[in-house]
Amino acid sequence: MKALPRPIIVVNFKTYPEASGPNSIALSKICESVAEETGVEIAVAPPMTDLAVVAQSVGIPVLSQHVDDVKAGGTTGHVPLESVTACGAKGTLLNHSERRMRIADIENLVCRCRNAGLSTIVCTNDIGVTRACSALEPDFVAIEPPELIGGDISVTTANPAVVKDSVGVARKICSGIGVLCGAGVKNGGDVAKALELGTDGVLLASGVVKAGDPRKVLLDLADGLRC
Ligand code: G3P
Repeated sequence: MKALPRPIIVVNFKTYPEASGPNSIALSKICESVAEETGVEIAVAPPMTDLAVVAQSVGIPVLSQHVDDVKAGGTTGHVPLESVTACGAKGTLLNHSERRMRIADIENLVCRCRNAGLSTIVCTNDIGVTRACSALEPDFVAIEPPELIGGDISVTTANPAVVKDSVGVARKICSGIGVLCGAGVKNGGDVAKALELGTDGVLLASGVVKAGDPRKVLLDLADGLRC
């Protein structure tokens, strides 16, 4: 399977009602049309319950929000990677702040995903966790200080040092690794700053999902990536 392109904007729909059920398909199609129109790479991570239908509806990369370190079979209520692959996911977030995982499970899953051709974006909350997770050699790490998630001030403004230092630490440990940042990212200026700090793009949610006009916001974000 093809690796996720860089630079990239990843939109995490979380479980927001504005981006669930039929809304998840509508928002994914807006992301797809902005990607086509601007040439900017945009990936979406819809609610787990909408993964298959979204993957069937759009041509941009569709990611799982999470995978459990279990095998498909007698694992009721879990999310095996075999299932998300069968749904059409091209990659997965792991260890999101809202879905923390044990390091041993992340390690195992990064390896299993690699073997299955599924790209991995491992979320981290500080430099120490960025260091530890980069050593597992996922495709990307995504630095997101939890206290800034869902807020109005972008991590690139509130704490540019954690972004810059994460980029430095991650690339020192694993030279080819992609680095994203997220939390409070809202506009093209935030994206441009993220790139200036050395990242390969952003991981964001509320700035798009809760926007009155998501298409307008996405066009602005895409502009920031093209600067
Ligand atoms: O995964 C994205 C994330 O946690 C950031 O959320 O709403 O601050 O863009 P938000």
